[in-house]
Amino acid sequence: MNMAPGAFVAERPRAPTRKAEARGDLPRADLVRIEAVSKVFPAGRGGSEVRALDGIDLSARRGSATAIIGRSGAGKSTLIRLINGLEKPTAGHVHVDGVDVAQLGERELRDIRRSIGMIFQHFNLLSSRTVFGNVALPLEIAGISRHEINARVGPLLDLVGLADKRDRYPSELSGGQKQRVGIARALATRPKLLLSDEATSALDPETTQSVLSLLRKINRELDLTILLITHEMEVVKQIADQVAVIDSGRIVERGGVFEIFSAPVHETTKALLSGLPGFRLPAVLATHLKHDPSAGSRAIVRVTFAGQGGQGRIFSKIAEVAGSDHEVIAGALDEIGGKPFGSFLVSVASPKAGQTVDKLAAGGLDAEVLGHVS
Ligand SMILES: Nc1ncnc2c1ncn2[C@@H]1O[C@H](COP(=O)(O)OP(=O)(O)OP(=O)(O)O)[C@@H](O)[C@H]1O
Ligand SMILES: [Mg+2]
Repeated sequence: MNMAPGAFVAERPRAPTRKAEARGDLPRADLVRIEAVSKVFPAGRGGSEVRALDGIDLSARRGSATAIIGRSGAGKSTLIRLINGLEKPTAGHVHVDGVDVAQLGERELRDIRRSIGMIFQHFNLLSSRTVFGNVALPLEIAGISRHEINARVGPLLDLVGLADKRDRYPSELSGGQKQRVGIARALATRPKLLLSDEATSALDPETTQSVLSLLRKINRELDLTILLITHEMEVVKQIADQVAVIDSGRIVERGGVFEIFSAPVHETTKALLSGLPGFRLPAVLATHLKHDPSAGSRAIVRVTFAGQGGQGRIFSKIAEVAGSDHEVIAGALDEIGGKPFGSFLVSVASPKAGQTVDKLAAGGLDAEVLGHVS
């Protein structure tokens, strides 16, 4: 079956960015606009061609933080490489700040890349240069004077919390410190856009937290637009306001992070989110879950709670609706972009499942039968 590009897209209304929301601003113009972009890699030796991207439409407003998620090989890195002009699209247009990147020559590309910072999973620092030297490098390449470089690098090292490491070499730094150098280097040319390809994937959870706080600070204080690829849903939840889900080179779902994470529609999104607390089905249940009920079986119902206050009352509400027979099996109350969100797995006798779902819905809770266990 061959469907038109974008046919699977589950489009949501765009949530305003947190900052814009706070200020009550009108939406601002898009810094990145990707229109009908496809990328086909020619066949290699003995292989066939690869359609890495297929009819992608995506935009990112100034000052927003957009996450691109998808399985391995979905086309995420290819999309990022098209934005900074490392690859050219086979079809379609990639606009950054109103400029069609694919139309630029090498020289103009070099200029526009100065307005696009990039951070990577493996930091890509030069081991022969100190922290200062690594951050100064893009400025040296841009032909900026030594005096100006000195004036710029100091404050950047302050910003990323590495002022005391300026004369250290990468081998003397922790992973989190290396990524901070990577971030300072990416910011050196004062870019409008920061691209991040799995920048926290090599870091432990605690270090990831500190790098995320730094990225949030930059996003807010420097009003930098961030586009990030990650396979860590926690990262998306904490930093992004928009999310796009890519599957086999197509965007299958996109919208505000809260809207998508609290009620994913596409199977790929559901699969990607399945590791988050409250989404995760306990292993023993997952292996015994059947599509159809059987004699004496119990239905597993996912109840989600999104947005409004009153999360403390969710248990009493479930109890009120599902009756004394229900059991809460797993669940979590969480926050996405500052809004309360909860997801709970509840079991009820299979024959009562339909009625329970209807009643929960009438009570303002989303509920869905995942299957049945005997
Ligand atoms: N230069 C290239 N030549 C040929 N095929 C390529 C090239 N770059 C990427 N591909 C193919 O394009 C598809 C998308 O690759 P891409 O690197 O964008 O995926 P990804 O979503 O970033 O995956 P991962 O999460 O594993 O990093 C893959 O099938 C990949 O093999
Ligand atoms: Mg990749």
